[in-house]
Amino acid sequence: MTHYTGLINRYRNRLPVSANTRIISLNEGNTPLIQLQNIPRIIGKEVDIYVKFEGLNPTGSFKDRGMTMAVTKAVEAGSQAIICASTGNTSASAAAYAARAGIKAFVLIPEGKIALGKLAQTLMYDAKIIQISGNFDRGMTLVKEVADHAPVTIVNSINPFRIDGQKTAAFEIVDALGFAPDYHCLPVGNAGNITAYWKGYKEYATDRVCGNRPVMCGYQAAGAAPFVLGEMVDNPETVATAIRIGHPQSWDFAWAAQRESGGWFDKFADEDILAAQKMLSQYEGIFCEPASATSLAGAMRDIKSGKIPEGSKIVCTLTGNGIKDPEIAMMQCADAKPVTIDASLDAVKRAILDGL
Ligand code: F0G
Repeated sequence: MTHYTGLINRYRNRLPVSANTRIISLNEGNTPLIQLQNIPRIIGKEVDIYVKFEGLNPTGSFKDRGMTMAVTKAVEAGSQAIICASTGNTSASAAAYAARAGIKAFVLIPEGKIALGKLAQTLMYDAKIIQISGNFDRGMTLVKEVADHAPVTIVNSINPFRIDGQKTAAFEIVDALGFAPDYHCLPVGNAGNITAYWKGYKEYATDRVCGNRPVMCGYQAAGAAPFVLGEMVDNPETVATAIRIGHPQSWDFAWAAQRESGGWFDKFADEDILAAQKMLSQYEGIFCEPASATSLAGAMRDIKSGKIPEGSKIVCTLTGNGIKDPEIAMMQCADAKPVTIDASLDAVKRAILDGL
């Protein structure tokens, strides 16, 4: 068995690197594709649902796939610093890969709107954190402006190398299943990921690695749903802070994915997103962050309604790890406080009997 050394090495012939490129990697990718066992039974439909658990990447989100490529190419071009706007995951990933490469990371984040774990990890990776009193979309505008005036490389998904790295998730799914799913469900924020998956599936289908391409289903939070409304949203709001985005950068690419695949966009109330997050934890043992659960909320609704027919094979991307957002988890479980007892055998025995 050979030691896994990250997605650039694995998919080198499909990525823009040469034999001389210094690869900046944390062994990202190769994440598990887990078939759900209990949720299909609970919703009472004959479907195969798989989740691609991207929360098991090195910094806990799918962003690492794009970041290994973006930082590798930035370093290859001689860049000494990278910059991004972020709702938390891109900033954590950029910070980690910059640390690995020995360059500087500047990250612009919306003040007070970043999950605690994301902030903690970004601090640990020692990025220069710039909080703004504005949302992600404002941060994105500022990043694009400042990059014209300062020697920094943008590593948001407007950087095409990010998309190239992230398309490998589609390759891994096809390589694991032996075919592309009938439906691919994922949360949509800035719309880089739906762009990347569609690029990956198309590439594999064109090269006849698989005979089919999935229908792409993009799901958004109701308060931040520009693709469902068909227009940009100026003040996006949702508990799923990762996708609190109203002006997605990959607007045209995401519409192309929807159109070419025969797919659709839909939106979900915060309660539905949180319910899906809890179901996945409670019935499958998989803890993702709120934004990620939007994919399952969407799949469940569309399976129940028959829009996704029985017999379908469905993949949901779980974009980030639930541990990143402990505050939401504690809020969700506010009624399930741990019991406190005496440290005695009797008390423990009683607690177990009560809990059975
Ligand atoms: N899920 C999570 C956990 C995310 O962090 C993001 C985006 C998305 C879904 C949406 O993906 O933007 O490619 O459509 N987070 C970015 C960030 C914006 O800054 O971390 P997308």
